[in-house]
Amino acid sequence: MMEIELFGVKMKNPTMLAAGVMGSTAASLNWVSRCGAGAVVSKSFSKMPNKGYKNPTTVEVNGGIINAIGLSSPGVETFKKELESLNGEVPKIASIYGATPEEFSQIASEIEDLVDLIELNISCPHAMGGCGAAIGQDKELTFNVVKLVKDAVSVPVMVKLTPNVTDLTEIALSAEKAGCDGLTLINSLGPGIKIDLETGRPILSNKFGGMSGPAIKPIALRCVFETYAVTNVPLVGVGGISNAQDVVEFLYAGASAVQVGTAIMEMGPEIFAEICTGLEKFMIEHEFDSISEMVGLAHEF
Ligand SMILES: Cc1cc2nc3c(=O)[nH]c(=O)nc-3n(C[C@H](O)[C@H](O)[C@H](O)COP(=O)(O)O)c2cc1C
Repeated sequence: MMEIELFGVKMKNPTMLAAGVMGSTAASLNWVSRCGAGAVVSKSFSKMPNKGYKNPTTVEVNGGIINAIGLSSPGVETFKKELESLNGEVPKIASIYGATPEEFSQIASEIEDLVDLIELNISCPHAMGGCGAAIGQDKELTFNVVKLVKDAVSVPVMVKLTPNVTDLTEIALSAEKAGCDGLTLINSLGPGIKIDLETGRPILSNKFGGMSGPAIKPIALRCVFETYAVTNVPLVGVGGISNAQDVVEFLYAGASAVQVGTAIMEMGPEIFAEICTGLEKFMIEHEFDSISEMVGLAHEF
């Protein structure tokens, strides 16, 4: 009842770990897969090592957190060892980032044999050196990155988009035209800032960071809804999901699967089993036999 097939990859349920939370080591990714996630996504990694920003890199705000980790990464050579140690109980997704189309395609070629899917992170709002949202806010750069990666690898490629643009559908269509297999929406929102009342100092070392958690859910849902109306590739919804009801809303908006990030920080990876139990109960109560029956229902109105 809960099984789905996404770009030919079978998943036992539509939930995935979102990139960047518990995704830095094989041990933590294997733990999440044992806790019931339908698939796991690694933390985004780059070609060369990157230290990221100094602490503090995360801070709590009303309705979620702001983070500016700066895409810290051990580099592809080191991260490959983690990918090799994944238990393979659920589909494995590598999230990668770079500054140029060539960097993306080189990393993708190096790891494609180790994973079932690749997610291109062109959407981080606090990346350094022209990586991240600098690419995902430009439809030509988006096209070039996706096209070069698709030409280089044969595993399916998802592209993770930023909500921090004037017209998201323009970027989504550009990624689709370049041949992506699916789109993940959304990366964190912002940037935002939090300031210490006693010292007057911005709390994050980078001052600004991306917002995630329950407060961004309505925006993430709108992004999925809008993109579903204009594209033909499967969508993966992410942003503020913390229970089965949230998942249902994303499916109705047009997502074929979902990812969970910030909620894991509060509730632990056990949240996956909880969400799946709730989702199955909802489906039985509402007489749905499959996830696909629920996808895009909100567009009938
Ligand atoms: C601490 C932290 C680190 C993150 N790192 C990454 C990352 O490496 N790559 C990426 O594509 N997204 C990253 N994200 C964004 C999440 O994958 C997700 O898109 C966003 O947080 C919204 O979902 P959520 O509200 O469920 O957390 C990160 C988010 C958080 C909170």
